[in-house]
Amino acid sequence: MTDLIDTIIPEKIPQHIAIIMDGNGRWANEKGQERLFGHSSGVKSVREAIKTAIELGVRYITLYAFSRENWNRPKQEVDGLMDLLILSIANEIEEFNENGVRLLTIGDINNLPENCMLSINDAVSRTSENSKLTLILAVNYSSKWEITQAVKTITESVNNSELAITEITENLIQRHLSTNSIPDPELLIRTSGEYRISNFLLWQIAYTELYFTEILWPDFRRNDFIQAVIEYQNRERRFGLLSTQIDSKI
Ligand code: FPP
Repeated sequence: MTDLIDTIIPEKIPQHIAIIMDGNGRWANEKGQERLFGHSSGVKSVREAIKTAIELGVRYITLYAFSRENWNRPKQEVDGLMDLLILSIANEIEEFNENGVRLLTIGDINNLPENCMLSINDAVSRTSENSKLTLILAVNYSSKWEITQAVKTITESVNNSELAITEITENLIQRHLSTNSIPDPELLIRTSGEYRISNFLLWQIAYTELYFTEILWPDFRRNDFIQAVIEYQNRERRFGLLSTQIDSKI
């Protein structure tokens, strides 16, 4: 039987894939279950996405695990998501180390419940030597918050005369974002048939290919991940140029 992976062009693997893991609540509702059951079932898809990313040779994967807006959900769901993060990190850390997965986070980690912050920081430091795949968890993250933080820091430097306004460049702004050490994603996947960006990596996805699928996150499997990469490989990335200009570059 042919494996979908055989149709992948190895030279065109995106080095960074970002994912908005959506549809956990609806998946659970369809099964007559509590929303939290959808989130805990989504962890299997997280594991599979990480495994498939490694299999394909993807270097960075960013997962939108908890947005700043998610605090407005019912307390039981918020508490459940925090517990699930702690539990998942505890369960996965050994496998991360076996498979060369380095954990990083973006977002306002210092304002998470203390046990959640400590468990994340501990996992970040215990996986810091790994280099096969960097897994970036966006937790208590929103892109407008991140950009606002960057503007504050840059303004402070201008006020202290450490920086001239003429020195504010796109590159300088990029270096003040929480993703400063991470290349921009080439591919962004959103599951569950919603066509939104939801305050995720607004600066970083300026030229990212967007891929939307109807599949609900807990059903998202290896072949769905590979299919998204195949679709990415069939896109023409023009970066503002003409098709003919791209052709003449090859
Ligand atoms: C969106 O679905 C999903 C989330 C807000 C949380 C995602 C969390 C996980 C998959 C589990 C833990 C993650 C890690 C990294 C271990 P939704 O609740 O908005 O679904 P709905 O749109 O159907 O209501």
